[in-house]
Amino acid sequence: LEDFSVVNEPILGYGKSSPERKALQQALQATAARCEEVPIVIGGKEFKTSKVVHQVMPHNHQHKLAQFYYADAKLIKQAIKTAVETQPKWDRVPLSERLKIWERAADLMATKYRQELNAATMLGQSKTAIQAEIDSAAELIDFIRLNAYFLKECAKYQPISEDIKVTKNSLRYRGIDGFIAAVSPFNFTAIGGNLSYTPALMGNAVLWKPSDTALLSNWRIFNIMREAGVPDGVVNFVPADGPVFGDTITASPHLAGINFTGSVPTFNRLWKQVGNNIDNYVNFPRLIGECGGKNFHFVHKSADVESVITSTIRSAFEYCGQKCSACSRMYVPESLWPEIKAGLQREAAKLKIGDVQDFSSFTSAVIDDKAFKRITGYIEHAKNSPNLEIIAGGTYSDSKGYYINPTIVETKDPKDRIMTEEIFGPVLTVYPYKEADLSKTMNLVHTSTKFALTGAVFGQDEEFINCALEEFKMAAGNFYINDKSTGSVVGQQPFGGGRMSGTNDKAGGPHYILRWSSPQSIKETF
Ligand code: ALA
Repeated sequence: LEDFSVVNEPILGYGKSSPERKALQQALQATAARCEEVPIVIGGKEFKTSKVVHQVMPHNHQHKLAQFYYADAKLIKQAIKTAVETQPKWDRVPLSERLKIWERAADLMATKYRQELNAATMLGQSKTAIQAEIDSAAELIDFIRLNAYFLKECAKYQPISEDIKVTKNSLRYRGIDGFIAAVSPFNFTAIGGNLSYTPALMGNAVLWKPSDTALLSNWRIFNIMREAGVPDGVVNFVPADGPVFGDTITASPHLAGINFTGSVPTFNRLWKQVGNNIDNYVNFPRLIGECGGKNFHFVHKSADVESVITSTIRSAFEYCGQKCSACSRMYVPESLWPEIKAGLQREAAKLKIGDVQDFSSFTSAVIDDKAFKRITGYIEHAKNSPNLEIIAGGTYSDSKGYYINPTIVETKDPKDRIMTEEIFGPVLTVYPYKEADLSKTMNLVHTSTKFALTGAVFGQDEEFINCALEEFKMAAGNFYINDKSTGSVVGQQPFGGGRMSGTNDKAGGPHYILRWSSPQSIKETF
Protein backbone atom coordinates (compact mmCIF):
# COMPACT_ATOMS: atom_id res chain seq x y z
CA LEU A 1 0.00 0.00 0.00
CA GLU A 2 2.84 2.35 -0.78
CA ASP A 3 1.22 4.77 -3.22
CA PHE A 4 -1.94 5.26 -1.19
CA SER A 5 -3.88 7.12 -3.83
CA VAL A 6 -7.34 7.35 -2.26
CA VAL A 7 -8.24 10.26 -0.03
CA ASN A 8 -11.20 10.49 2.33
CA GLU A 9 -14.26 12.22 0.95
CA PRO A 10 -14.34 15.82 2.26
CA ILE A 11 -17.14 16.60 4.71
CA LEU A 12 -19.37 19.48 3.60
CA GLY A 13 -20.22 22.23 6.10
CA TYR A 14 -23.91 23.15 5.50
CA GLY A 15 -23.38 26.77 6.59
CA LYS A 16 -26.34 29.11 6.50
CA SER A 17 -26.40 30.26 2.89
CA SER A 18 -24.25 27.47 1.43
CA PRO A 19 -25.40 25.76 -1.77
CA GLU A 20 -25.23 22.37 -0.05
CA ARG A 21 -27.68 23.51 2.63
CA LYS A 22 -30.09 24.69 -0.07
CA ALA A 23 -29.81 21.41 -1.97
CA LEU A 24 -30.29 19.43 1.23
CA GLN A 25 -33.36 21.45 2.20
CA GLN A 26 -34.92 20.68 -1.18
CA ALA A 27 -34.15 16.98 -0.76
CA LEU A 28 -35.63 17.03 2.75
CA GLN A 29 -38.83 18.59 1.47
CA ALA A 30 -39.17 16.11 -1.36
CA THR A 31 -38.44 13.14 0.95
CA ALA A 32 -40.87 14.26 3.65
CA ALA A 33 -43.64 15.01 1.15
CA ARG A 34 -44.53 11.39 0.45
CA CYS A 35 -44.55 7.95 1.97
CA GLU A 36 -42.27 6.09 -0.41
CA GLU A 37 -43.15 2.56 -1.39
CA VAL A 38 -40.17 0.19 -1.17
CA PRO A 39 -40.43 -3.30 -2.63
CA ILE A 40 -38.43 -6.44 -1.93
CA VAL A 41 -36.00 -6.96 -4.85
CA ILE A 42 -34.79 -10.43 -5.80
CA GLY A 43 -32.81 -10.94 -9.02
CA GLY A 44 -34.01 -7.54 -10.24
CA LYS A 45 -37.69 -8.45 -9.78
CA GLU A 46 -39.85 -6.54 -7.33
CA PHE A 47 -42.14 -8.22 -4.80
CA LYS A 48 -44.71 -7.18 -2.22
CA THR A 49 -46.23 -9.33 0.49
CA SER A 50 -49.22 -9.00 2.78
CA LYS A 51 -46.93 -8.07 5.69
CA VAL A 52 -46.87 -4.27 5.35
CA VAL A 53 -44.47 -2.29 7.58
CA HIS A 54 -43.84 1.44 7.88
CA GLN A 55 -40.76 3.47 8.62
CA VAL A 56 -41.67 6.58 10.59
CA MET A 57 -39.65 9.65 11.51
CA PRO A 58 -38.38 9.08 15.07
CA HIS A 59 -38.62 12.82 15.83
CA ASN A 60 -42.22 12.92 14.57
CA HIS A 61 -43.53 9.39 14.84
CA GLN A 62 -46.91 10.06 13.27
CA HIS A 63 -45.17 10.88 9.99
CA LYS A 64 -44.73 7.82 7.77
CA LEU A 65 -41.69 8.03 5.55
CA ALA A 66 -41.75 4.70 3.77
CA GLN A 67 -43.94 1.67 3.33
CA PHE A 68 -42.23 -1.64 2.83
CA TYR A 69 -42.92 -5.36 3.03
CA TYR A 70 -41.45 -8.26 4.94
CA ALA A 71 -40.23 -11.12 2.78
CA ASP A 72 -41.66 -14.40 4.09
CA ALA A 73 -39.66 -17.63 4.29
CA LYS A 74 -40.69 -18.60 0.75
CA LEU A 75 -39.35 -15.37 -0.72
CA ILE A 76 -36.19 -15.56 1.35
CA LYS A 77 -35.61 -19.06 -0.06
CA GLN A 78 -36.19 -17.68 -3.55
CA ALA A 79 -33.59 -14.97 -2.86
CA ILE A 80 -31.15 -17.65 -1.69
CA LYS A 81 -31.69 -19.64 -4.91
CA THR A 82 -31.16 -16.51 -7.01
CA ALA A 83 -28.00 -15.57 -5.13
CA VAL A 84 -26.55 -19.07 -5.34
CA GLU A 85 -27.15 -19.13 -9.12
CA THR A 86 -25.77 -15.61 -9.61
CA GLN A 87 -22.58 -16.04 -7.57
CA PRO A 88 -20.46 -18.08 -10.04
CA LYS A 89 -21.41 -15.80 -12.94
CA TRP A 90 -20.62 -12.66 -10.97
CA ASP A 91 -17.36 -14.13 -9.70
CA ARG A 92 -16.26 -14.49 -13.34
CA VAL A 93 -16.68 -10.77 -14.04
CA PRO A 94 -13.11 -9.41 -14.20
CA LEU A 95 -11.98 -7.50 -11.15
CA SER A 96 -11.27 -4.41 -13.25
CA GLU A 97 -14.92 -4.27 -14.29
CA ARG A 98 -16.18 -4.73 -10.75
CA LEU A 99 -13.87 -1.98 -9.54
CA LYS A 100 -15.22 0.39 -12.20
CA ILE A 101 -18.78 -0.19 -10.95
CA TRP A 102 -17.72 0.64 -7.38
CA GLU A 103 -15.89 3.78 -8.52
CA ARG A 104 -18.96 4.87 -10.46
CA ALA A 105 -21.17 4.23 -7.44
CA ALA A 106 -18.93 6.29 -5.14
CA ASP A 107 -19.03 9.16 -7.61
CA LEU A 108 -22.84 9.00 -7.81
CA MET A 109 -23.01 9.05 -4.01
CA ALA A 110 -20.63 12.00 -3.82
CA THR A 111 -22.48 14.09 -6.39
CA LYS A 112 -25.92 13.29 -7.85
CA TYR A 113 -27.38 11.46 -4.84
CA ARG A 114 -25.52 12.96 -1.89
CA GLN A 115 -28.44 15.01 -0.62
CA GLU A 116 -31.07 12.31 -1.23
CA LEU A 117 -28.97 9.96 0.89
CA ASN A 118 -28.52 12.58 3.59
CA ALA A 119 -32.22 13.49 3.59
CA ALA A 120 -33.27 9.84 3.96
CA THR A 121 -30.77 9.40 6.81
CA MET A 122 -31.85 12.59 8.55
CA LEU A 123 -35.58 11.99 8.34
CA GLY A 124 -35.56 8.24 8.77
CA GLN A 125 -32.90 7.89 11.46
CA SER A 126 -33.19 11.36 13.05
CA LYS A 127 -29.62 12.45 12.36
CA THR A 128 -28.70 16.11 12.15
CA ALA A 129 -27.28 17.37 8.85
CA ILE A 130 -23.67 17.13 9.95
CA GLN A 131 -24.11 13.65 11.44
CA ALA A 132 -25.81 12.50 8.24
CA GLU A 133 -23.03 14.03 6.14
CA ILE A 134 -20.39 12.17 8.18
CA ASP A 135 -22.30 8.93 7.69
CA SER A 136 -24.35 8.63 4.49
CA ALA A 137 -22.00 10.85 2.49
CA ALA A 138 -18.40 10.65 3.72
CA GLU A 139 -18.23 7.26 5.44
CA LEU A 140 -20.36 5.47 2.85
CA ILE A 141 -18.31 6.85 -0.05
CA ASP A 142 -15.08 6.03 1.79
CA PHE A 143 -16.18 2.42 2.35
CA ILE A 144 -16.99 2.00 -1.33
CA ARG A 145 -13.74 3.63 -2.53
CA LEU A 146 -11.37 2.28 0.11
CA ASN A 147 -12.52 -1.33 -0.14
CA ALA A 148 -12.13 -1.16 -3.92
CA TYR A 149 -8.66 0.27 -3.45
CA PHE A 150 -7.64 -2.33 -0.86
CA LEU A 151 -8.85 -5.17 -3.09
CA LYS A 152 -6.94 -3.80 -6.06
CA GLU A 153 -3.78 -3.55 -3.97
CA CYS A 154 -4.18 -7.04 -2.45
CA ALA A 155 -4.74 -8.53 -5.88
CA LYS A 156 -1.35 -7.17 -6.97
CA TYR A 157 0.39 -9.48 -4.56
CA GLN A 158 1.48 -12.73 -6.14
CA PRO A 159 3.39 -15.52 -4.40
CA ILE A 160 7.08 -16.13 -5.04
CA SER A 161 7.95 -18.32 -8.04
CA GLU A 162 11.57 -19.40 -7.61
CA ASP A 163 12.27 -20.39 -11.19
CA ILE A 164 9.72 -18.93 -13.55
CA LYS A 165 10.82 -21.31 -16.34
CA VAL A 166 9.85 -24.33 -14.30
CA THR A 167 6.92 -23.30 -12.15
CA LYS A 168 4.74 -20.30 -11.68
CA ASN A 169 2.77 -19.73 -8.50
CA SER A 170 -0.25 -17.50 -8.42
CA LEU A 171 -3.10 -16.63 -6.14
CA ARG A 172 -6.53 -15.61 -7.19
CA TYR A 173 -9.17 -14.13 -5.00
CA ARG A 174 -12.53 -15.80 -5.41
CA GLY A 175 -15.84 -15.15 -3.74
CA ILE A 176 -17.30 -17.90 -1.56
CA ASP A 177 -19.48 -20.60 -3.04
CA GLY A 178 -23.03 -19.90 -1.85
CA PHE A 179 -24.51 -16.68 -0.49
CA ILE A 180 -23.68 -14.09 2.14
CA ALA A 181 -26.37 -12.68 4.43
CA ALA A 182 -25.83 -9.02 5.36
CA VAL A 183 -27.81 -7.89 8.40
CA SER A 184 -27.30 -4.18 8.94
CA PRO A 185 -28.18 -1.71 11.73
CA PHE A 186 -30.01 1.62 11.88
CA ASN A 187 -27.30 3.76 13.38
CA PHE A 188 -25.05 4.18 10.36
CA THR A 189 -26.38 4.20 6.81
CA ALA A 190 -22.78 3.62 5.73
CA ILE A 191 -22.62 0.31 7.61
CA GLY A 192 -25.54 -0.96 5.52
CA GLY A 193 -23.57 -0.18 2.36
CA ASN A 194 -20.42 -1.77 3.72
CA LEU A 195 -21.97 -4.99 5.03
CA SER A 196 -23.77 -5.72 1.78
CA TYR A 197 -21.53 -4.36 -0.97
CA THR A 198 -18.06 -5.26 0.30
CA PRO A 199 -18.72 -9.03 0.08
CA ALA A 200 -20.33 -8.37 -3.32
CA LEU A 201 -17.22 -6.57 -4.58
CA MET A 202 -15.19 -9.70 -3.81
CA GLY A 203 -17.41 -11.83 -6.06
CA ASN A 204 -20.07 -12.96 -3.61
CA ALA A 205 -23.84 -12.83 -3.96
CA VAL A 206 -25.70 -11.27 -1.07
CA LEU A 207 -29.07 -11.21 0.67
CA TRP A 208 -29.28 -7.82 2.35
CA LYS A 209 -31.68 -7.47 5.26
CA PRO A 210 -31.63 -3.79 6.16
CA SER A 211 -32.84 -2.48 9.50
CA ASP A 212 -36.55 -1.52 9.49
CA THR A 213 -35.54 1.85 10.93
CA ALA A 214 -32.98 2.62 8.20
CA LEU A 215 -35.05 1.29 5.35
CA LEU A 216 -35.25 4.35 3.12
CA SER A 217 -31.57 5.35 3.27
CA ASN A 218 -30.55 1.74 2.62
CA TRP A 219 -32.98 1.55 -0.29
CA ARG A 220 -31.28 4.64 -1.75
CA ILE A 221 -27.91 2.85 -1.61
CA PHE A 222 -29.39 -0.21 -3.30
CA ASN A 223 -30.69 1.91 -6.18
CA ILE A 224 -27.44 3.81 -6.62
CA MET A 225 -25.51 0.55 -6.83
CA ARG A 226 -27.99 -0.69 -9.46
CA GLU A 227 -27.55 2.51 -11.45
CA ALA A 228 -23.78 2.14 -11.19
CA GLY A 229 -24.04 -1.28 -12.83
CA VAL A 230 -24.25 -3.98 -10.14
CA PRO A 231 -26.07 -6.76 -12.01
CA ASP A 232 -29.41 -8.15 -10.84
CA GLY A 233 -29.14 -10.92 -8.26
CA VAL A 234 -25.71 -9.88 -6.92
CA VAL A 235 -27.29 -8.04 -4.00
CA ASN A 236 -30.90 -8.85 -3.21
CA PHE A 237 -32.86 -6.39 -1.08
CA VAL A 238 -34.77 -8.49 1.44
CA PRO A 239 -36.40 -6.64 4.35
CA ALA A 240 -37.79 -9.27 6.71
CA ASP A 241 -38.74 -10.10 10.25
CA GLY A 242 -35.40 -10.77 12.02
CA PRO A 243 -36.07 -14.28 13.38
CA VAL A 244 -37.74 -15.46 10.12
CA PHE A 245 -34.73 -14.22 8.15
CA GLY A 246 -32.25 -15.75 10.62
CA ASP A 247 -34.01 -19.11 10.71
CA THR A 248 -34.26 -19.32 6.92
CA ILE A 249 -30.70 -18.33 6.04
CA THR A 250 -29.08 -20.52 8.68
CA ALA A 251 -31.16 -23.51 7.52
CA SER A 252 -29.81 -23.25 3.96
CA PRO A 253 -26.83 -25.49 3.12
CA HIS A 254 -25.53 -22.69 0.89
CA LEU A 255 -24.97 -20.15 3.67
CA ALA A 256 -21.40 -18.93 3.07
CA GLY A 257 -21.28 -16.18 5.66
CA ILE A 258 -23.11 -13.68 7.82
CA ASN A 259 -22.01 -10.07 7.90
CA PHE A 260 -23.78 -8.70 10.94
CA THR A 261 -24.01 -5.53 12.98
CA GLY A 262 -26.49 -5.54 15.84
CA SER A 263 -27.01 -6.87 19.33
CA VAL A 264 -25.10 -9.62 21.15
CA PRO A 265 -28.22 -11.78 21.74
CA THR A 266 -29.10 -11.75 18.02
CA PHE A 267 -25.55 -12.60 16.93
CA ASN A 268 -25.40 -15.36 19.56
CA ARG A 269 -28.67 -16.77 18.26
CA LEU A 270 -27.38 -16.82 14.68
CA TRP A 271 -24.10 -18.38 15.79
CA LYS A 272 -25.94 -21.15 17.68
CA GLN A 273 -28.15 -21.85 14.68
CA VAL A 274 -25.10 -22.14 12.46
CA GLY A 275 -23.57 -24.52 15.01
CA ASN A 276 -26.68 -26.66 15.05
CA ASN A 277 -26.69 -26.90 11.26
CA ILE A 278 -22.96 -27.33 10.80
CA ASP A 279 -23.25 -30.82 9.28
CA ASN A 280 -25.45 -29.51 6.48
CA TYR A 281 -23.35 -26.71 5.02
CA VAL A 282 -21.32 -26.63 1.82
CA ASN A 283 -18.81 -24.26 3.54
CA PHE A 284 -17.94 -23.35 7.08
CA PRO A 285 -19.92 -20.11 7.12
CA ARG A 286 -17.89 -16.98 7.94
CA LEU A 287 -19.41 -15.22 10.91
CA ILE A 288 -18.49 -11.58 11.19
CA GLY A 289 -20.21 -9.53 13.85
CA GLU A 290 -20.08 -6.07 15.32
CA CYS A 291 -22.11 -6.26 18.49
CA GLY A 292 -22.01 -3.36 20.89
CA GLY A 293 -20.01 -1.73 23.58
CA LYS A 294 -19.72 -0.01 26.91
CA ASN A 295 -17.21 2.57 25.81
CA PHE A 296 -15.20 4.56 28.30
CA HIS A 297 -13.37 7.83 28.83
CA PHE A 298 -10.69 7.51 31.52
CA VAL A 299 -9.26 10.75 32.87
CA HIS A 300 -5.89 11.11 34.59
CA LYS A 301 -5.09 14.00 36.93
CA SER A 302 -2.68 15.38 34.30
CA ALA A 303 -5.47 15.79 31.71
CA ASP A 304 -6.47 18.99 29.97
CA VAL A 305 -9.86 19.62 31.55
CA GLU A 306 -11.49 21.63 28.73
CA SER A 307 -10.58 19.02 26.16
CA VAL A 308 -12.03 16.29 28.41
CA ILE A 309 -15.31 18.19 28.69
CA THR A 310 -15.73 18.92 24.98
CA SER A 311 -14.70 15.43 23.89
CA THR A 312 -17.00 13.75 26.39
CA ILE A 313 -20.04 15.84 25.51
CA ARG A 314 -19.52 15.07 21.83
CA SER A 315 -18.83 11.37 22.30
CA ALA A 316 -21.68 10.74 24.73
CA PHE A 317 -24.39 12.86 23.13
CA GLU A 318 -23.85 13.29 19.39
CA TYR A 319 -26.53 11.26 17.64
CA CYS A 320 -28.07 10.69 21.08
CA GLY A 321 -25.32 8.29 22.12
CA GLN A 322 -26.44 5.88 19.41
CA LYS A 323 -23.06 5.51 17.74
CA CYS A 324 -21.62 2.10 18.56
CA SER A 325 -18.53 3.99 19.71
CA ALA A 326 -20.30 6.48 22.02
CA CYS A 327 -18.87 7.04 25.50
CA SER A 328 -21.29 5.87 28.16
CA ARG A 329 -19.07 5.60 31.23
CA MET A 330 -16.39 7.87 32.52
CA TYR A 331 -13.79 7.70 35.28
CA VAL A 332 -12.52 10.99 36.72
CA PRO A 333 -10.03 11.60 39.57
CA GLU A 334 -11.77 13.17 42.56
CA SER A 335 -9.45 16.19 42.43
CA LEU A 336 -10.68 17.14 38.93
CA TRP A 337 -14.30 16.15 39.39
CA PRO A 338 -15.73 19.49 40.62
CA GLU A 339 -14.32 21.33 37.60
CA ILE A 340 -15.24 18.62 35.10
CA LYS A 341 -18.68 18.20 36.62
CA ALA A 342 -19.41 21.93 36.33
CA GLY A 343 -18.13 21.91 32.74
CA LEU A 344 -20.25 18.92 31.72
CA GLN A 345 -23.34 20.48 33.31
CA ARG A 346 -22.66 23.82 31.62
CA GLU A 347 -22.18 22.26 28.17
CA ALA A 348 -25.07 19.80 28.48
CA ALA A 349 -27.40 22.69 29.30
CA LYS A 350 -26.43 24.40 26.04
CA LEU A 351 -27.31 21.46 23.79
CA LYS A 352 -30.33 22.09 21.63
CA ILE A 353 -32.49 19.04 21.12
CA GLY A 354 -35.08 19.25 18.35
CA ASP A 355 -36.22 18.53 14.83
CA VAL A 356 -33.46 17.52 12.42
CA GLN A 357 -34.73 20.00 9.83
CA ASP A 358 -33.80 22.79 12.24
CA PHE A 359 -30.10 23.16 11.44
CA SER A 360 -29.34 24.49 14.92
CA SER A 361 -30.36 21.22 16.64
CA PHE A 362 -27.44 19.40 18.24
CA THR A 363 -29.37 16.14 18.43
CA SER A 364 -32.88 14.88 17.90
CA ALA A 365 -34.94 11.86 18.94
CA VAL A 366 -33.80 8.29 19.65
CA ILE A 367 -34.66 5.71 17.05
CA ASP A 368 -37.90 4.09 18.20
CA ASP A 369 -40.26 3.20 20.99
CA LYS A 370 -38.23 0.16 22.03
CA ALA A 371 -35.09 2.28 22.42
CA PHE A 372 -37.05 4.99 24.23
CA LYS A 373 -38.32 2.47 26.80
CA ARG A 374 -34.93 0.83 27.29
CA ILE A 375 -33.04 4.11 27.75
CA THR A 376 -35.62 5.76 30.00
CA GLY A 377 -35.60 2.55 32.06
CA TYR A 378 -31.96 3.32 32.93
CA ILE A 379 -32.89 6.92 33.79
CA GLU A 380 -35.61 5.65 36.15
CA HIS A 381 -33.10 3.21 37.65
CA ALA A 382 -30.80 6.20 38.32
CA LYS A 383 -33.65 8.11 39.96
CA ASN A 384 -34.44 5.20 42.25
CA SER A 385 -30.96 4.09 43.25
CA PRO A 386 -29.22 5.54 46.36
CA ASN A 387 -25.78 5.17 44.72
CA LEU A 388 -26.75 7.18 41.66
CA GLU A 389 -27.49 10.87 41.25
CA ILE A 390 -28.70 12.56 38.08
CA ILE A 391 -26.64 15.74 37.66
CA ALA A 392 -27.98 16.81 34.23
CA GLY A 393 -31.04 15.97 32.12
CA GLY A 394 -33.14 13.03 33.27
CA THR A 395 -36.26 14.24 31.43
CA TYR A 396 -37.98 12.77 28.38
CA SER A 397 -41.17 12.73 26.34
CA ASP A 398 -42.48 10.59 23.50
CA SER A 399 -45.60 12.59 22.72
CA LYS A 400 -44.35 13.78 19.30
CA GLY A 401 -41.00 12.10 18.85
CA TYR A 402 -38.84 9.84 21.02
CA TYR A 403 -37.05 12.65 22.80
CA ILE A 404 -34.68 12.08 25.71
CA ASN A 405 -32.62 14.93 27.10
CA PRO A 406 -28.87 14.30 27.44
CA THR A 407 -28.52 12.79 30.89
CA ILE A 408 -25.48 12.67 33.15
CA VAL A 409 -25.41 10.44 36.21
CA GLU A 410 -22.83 10.41 39.00
CA THR A 411 -22.25 7.04 40.64
CA LYS A 412 -20.65 5.94 43.88
CA ASP A 413 -20.65 2.36 42.63
CA PRO A 414 -18.46 1.65 39.57
CA LYS A 415 -20.07 -1.77 39.22
CA ASP A 416 -23.67 -0.59 39.10
CA ARG A 417 -25.42 -2.01 36.03
CA ILE A 418 -25.60 1.49 34.54
CA MET A 419 -21.77 1.28 34.36
CA THR A 420 -21.61 -2.19 32.83
CA GLU A 421 -24.62 -2.71 30.53
CA GLU A 422 -25.02 -1.25 27.06
CA ILE A 423 -27.64 1.53 27.06
CA PHE A 424 -27.24 2.85 23.50
CA GLY A 425 -28.71 6.24 24.25
CA PRO A 426 -27.88 9.70 25.67
CA VAL A 427 -26.99 8.58 29.19
CA LEU A 428 -23.47 9.09 30.54
CA THR A 429 -22.43 7.83 33.97
CA VAL A 430 -19.37 9.15 35.78
CA TYR A 431 -17.44 7.51 38.59
CA PRO A 432 -15.14 9.88 40.50
CA TYR A 433 -12.23 7.72 41.70
CA LYS A 434 -9.75 8.23 44.50
CA GLU A 435 -6.29 8.92 43.13
CA ALA A 436 -4.82 6.31 45.46
CA ASP A 437 -7.03 3.79 43.60
CA LEU A 438 -5.74 4.66 40.12
CA SER A 439 -4.47 1.15 39.23
CA LYS A 440 -7.44 -0.60 40.78
CA THR A 441 -9.85 1.66 38.89
CA MET A 442 -8.03 1.18 35.57
CA ASN A 443 -8.26 -2.55 36.07
CA LEU A 444 -11.96 -2.29 36.82
CA VAL A 445 -12.59 -0.53 33.50
CA HIS A 446 -12.00 -3.67 31.51
CA THR A 447 -12.87 -6.36 34.03
CA SER A 448 -16.33 -5.02 34.83
CA THR A 449 -17.89 -5.47 31.35
CA LYS A 450 -17.76 -8.09 28.65
CA PHE A 451 -17.43 -5.46 25.92
CA ALA A 452 -14.26 -4.06 24.33
CA LEU A 453 -15.20 -1.72 21.51
CA THR A 454 -13.85 1.80 22.04
CA GLY A 455 -12.12 3.63 24.86
CA ALA A 456 -10.23 6.86 25.41
CA VAL A 457 -7.73 8.09 27.94
CA PHE A 458 -6.96 11.70 28.75
CA GLY A 459 -3.69 12.76 30.35
CA GLN A 460 -0.43 14.56 29.60
CA ASP A 461 1.67 12.37 31.89
CA GLU A 462 3.80 10.05 29.78
CA GLU A 463 4.08 7.37 32.44
CA PHE A 464 0.28 7.23 32.71
CA ILE A 465 -0.14 6.95 28.93
CA ASN A 466 2.37 4.08 28.75
CA CYS A 467 0.67 2.37 31.65
CA ALA A 468 -2.76 2.86 29.98
CA LEU A 469 -1.46 1.36 26.73
CA GLU A 470 -0.59 -1.81 28.67
CA GLU A 471 -3.59 -1.95 31.00
CA PHE A 472 -6.11 -1.23 28.24
CA LYS A 473 -4.57 -3.43 25.59
CA MET A 474 -7.59 -5.73 25.52
CA ALA A 475 -10.11 -3.13 26.70
CA ALA A 476 -10.92 -1.63 23.31
CA GLY A 477 -10.59 -2.46 19.62
CA ASN A 478 -10.35 1.29 18.94
CA PHE A 479 -8.27 3.15 21.50
CA TYR A 480 -7.85 6.92 21.66
CA ILE A 481 -5.26 8.97 23.52
CA ASN A 482 -6.43 12.51 24.25
CA ASP A 483 -9.36 12.30 21.85
CA LYS A 484 -13.00 11.18 22.09
CA SER A 485 -13.99 7.54 21.63
CA THR A 486 -16.12 8.24 18.52
CA GLY A 487 -15.36 9.37 15.00
CA SER A 488 -13.21 6.66 13.47
CA VAL A 489 -12.50 7.40 9.82
CA VAL A 490 -12.41 4.73 7.10
CA GLY A 491 -8.81 4.01 6.15
CA GLN A 492 -7.49 5.99 9.13
CA GLN A 493 -8.79 4.12 12.19
CA PRO A 494 -10.08 0.69 11.05
CA PHE A 495 -13.05 -0.03 13.29
CA GLY A 496 -14.09 -2.98 15.43
CA GLY A 497 -13.99 -4.40 18.92
CA GLY A 498 -12.95 -7.61 20.62
CA ARG A 499 -14.47 -9.75 23.35
CA MET A 500 -18.29 -9.58 23.17
CA SER A 501 -18.13 -6.42 21.08
CA GLY A 502 -17.55 -8.50 17.98
CA THR A 503 -15.21 -10.50 15.83
CA ASN A 504 -13.04 -7.40 15.27
CA ASP A 505 -12.65 -7.69 11.52
CA LYS A 506 -11.91 -3.97 11.25
CA ALA A 507 -14.33 -2.35 8.85
CA GLY A 508 -12.54 0.38 6.93
CA GLY A 509 -9.21 -1.44 7.12
CA PRO A 510 -7.19 -3.25 4.46
CA HIS A 511 -7.97 -6.77 5.66
CA TYR A 512 -11.75 -6.52 5.81
CA ILE A 513 -12.30 -7.24 2.13
CA LEU A 514 -10.16 -10.41 2.39
CA ARG A 515 -12.59 -11.90 4.91
CA TRP A 516 -15.01 -12.27 2.00
CA SER A 517 -12.68 -14.27 -0.19
CA SER A 518 -11.88 -17.93 -0.50
CA PRO A 519 -8.62 -17.55 -2.43
CA GLN A 520 -7.26 -20.18 -4.80
CA SER A 521 -3.55 -20.92 -4.90
CA ILE A 522 -2.33 -22.19 -8.28
CA LYS A 523 0.98 -23.86 -9.08
CA GLU A 524 1.62 -24.25 -12.79
CA THR A 525 4.52 -26.47 -13.89
CA PHE A 526 5.98 -26.05 -17.35
N1 ALA B 1 -17.14 5.45 12.64
C1 ALA B 1 -18.00 5.41 13.76
C2 ALA B 1 -17.37 5.99 14.97
O1 ALA B 1 -16.25 5.68 15.26
C3 ALA B 1 -18.47 4.02 14.05
O2 ALA B 1 -18.01 6.71 15.66
